[in-house]
Amino acid sequence: MPLLSTQRILFLCIPAALLLLFVVSALRGGSVTAPIQTLKDAGHKINDNICTNDHPDIRKPTFADTIAALYQPILLPVTAKSYTDQTGREFDNGGNEYWQRRLGSDILIVDIDTRNPNGTNEIFNPERMNWRELETQGGGLLTASFINHFLYSQIHGYDYKYFNARHIEGHYDTWIKPHVIYEMLHQYKFVVFIDADAVIQHLEVPMEFLFNRWNITPNTSIGMPVDTRQKLGDDENASMDSKGKVTVNSGVVVAQSLPYTFEMMNAWRTCTNELRYPGCGHWKENWSHEQRAFSEYIRYDFNPDNNIVEFNCDDANGYPSLKSDHPWIIDDCQGQFIRHHTIDKDLVKGSTSDVIMQSLTEILQKSFQRNREDLFIEEAAQ
Ligand SMILES: *[C@@H]1O[C@H](CO)[C@@H](O)[C@H](O)[C@H]1NC(C)=O
Ligand SMILES: *[C@@H]1O[C@H](CO)[C@@H](O)[C@H](O)[C@H]1NC(C)=O
Ligand SMILES: *[C@@H]1O[C@H](CO)[C@@H](O)[C@H](O)[C@H]1NC(C)=O
Ligand SMILES: *[C@@H]1O[C@H](CO)[C@@H](O)[C@H](O)[C@H]1NC(C)=O
Repeated sequence: MPLLSTQRILFLCIPAALLLLFVVSALRGGSVTAPIQTLKDAGHKINDNICTNDHPDIRKPTFADTIAALYQPILLPVTAKSYTDQTGREFDNGGNEYWQRRLGSDILIVDIDTRNPNGTNEIFNPERMNWRELETQGGGLLTASFINHFLYSQIHGYDYKYFNARHIEGHYDTWIKPHVIYEMLHQYKFVVFIDADAVIQHLEVPMEFLFNRWNITPNTSIGMPVDTRQKLGDDENASMDSKGKVTVNSGVVVAQSLPYTFEMMNAWRTCTNELRYPGCGHWKENWSHEQRAFSEYIRYDFNPDNNIVEFNCDDANGYPSLKSDHPWIIDDCQGQFIRHHTIDKDLVKGSTSDVIMQSLTEILQKSFQRNREDLFIEEAAQ
């Protein structure tokens, strides 16, 4: 009923506003064909001040609406067959058209961490932020990447949550990932987890396009990028499981809520109790923890029909200076869509700035182009 009566009020208000405007402009002796801007302003004010009373202003956009409207001029449609980045490099959708409609709040973008970035100059502290002074490690690092992930979710209409998880006794903290993803999958069709040291590079590119590109089908339970191979000490196989296959990297996890996914996630999150997987306890605290457990056991046990997708390392792992600055890194994965700063975490803040500035400058440039006649005064030759 509240919606109905709001609608009825609007029905009455808009003609009333137009009539009022007509009368006012006639009294002033002004033109009746008022400029569009005046009409909009008058309508909006009246809606706010006279007609709403106790009724919500259904025309008032939410924060997400406002952000989405701002980014609309550069948004890549989910149906796009390719995407060209600002350097001119083109990426296709893998020739796949599994996802042709916006999934909106069926997708959750989730940050999961045991830390709470609520210290001085951190995102969950109520005091005003100072971006220039933001630390590049610890809570400052979380602040930067959460801003990136949150902004991305608002642009595309996805839900966003920060899950402040509890440490799991006897386990390295990254073991919270399978636990929390399992929890959140009860409420969403897709849960997309992104590490705190990982930054989404192209805010205008929707997840649906990436799902197509990464071959995430309606039957896929889990998608993760292949890890960047590295040689640790004398161990050239440090990034491989015991069968010699390169591990996946759990810095980005795409999980789809299917019955089979819950079975799989349950096996993963309880792996270290060794009821199903003797030996898994070794990865409780030894590197690479839950990532290795998934790579060692789950991906062999739960993949009868491409239920697990391993996508390109260069798309969602590493960053441009990873290999060039670190001689023990074998693969040149540059994180074209999601840069994962596994080693140089200090780069997260700058990457967050660059990504936001890239998108905003494109939006502003487009606005300049559209409104060139209004904004650009060329002085006549003398
Ligand atoms: C930060 O959060 C912790 C709990 O996670 C709480 O104990 C502490 O009081 C909070 N600090 C501030 C400044 O809000
Ligand atoms: C999904 O699984 C169903 C049933 O096994 C199958 O018919 C269908 O072709 C699969 N779809 C894709 C995109 O793999
Ligand atoms: C690395 O793996 C390859 C292939 O599985 C094997 O031939 C080689 O001996 C391994 N190297 C070490 C140092 O374990
Ligand atoms: C971690 O690895 C070391 C060396 O291989 C091993 O001795 C230890 O038992 C492992 N930790 C756990 C919790 O299994």
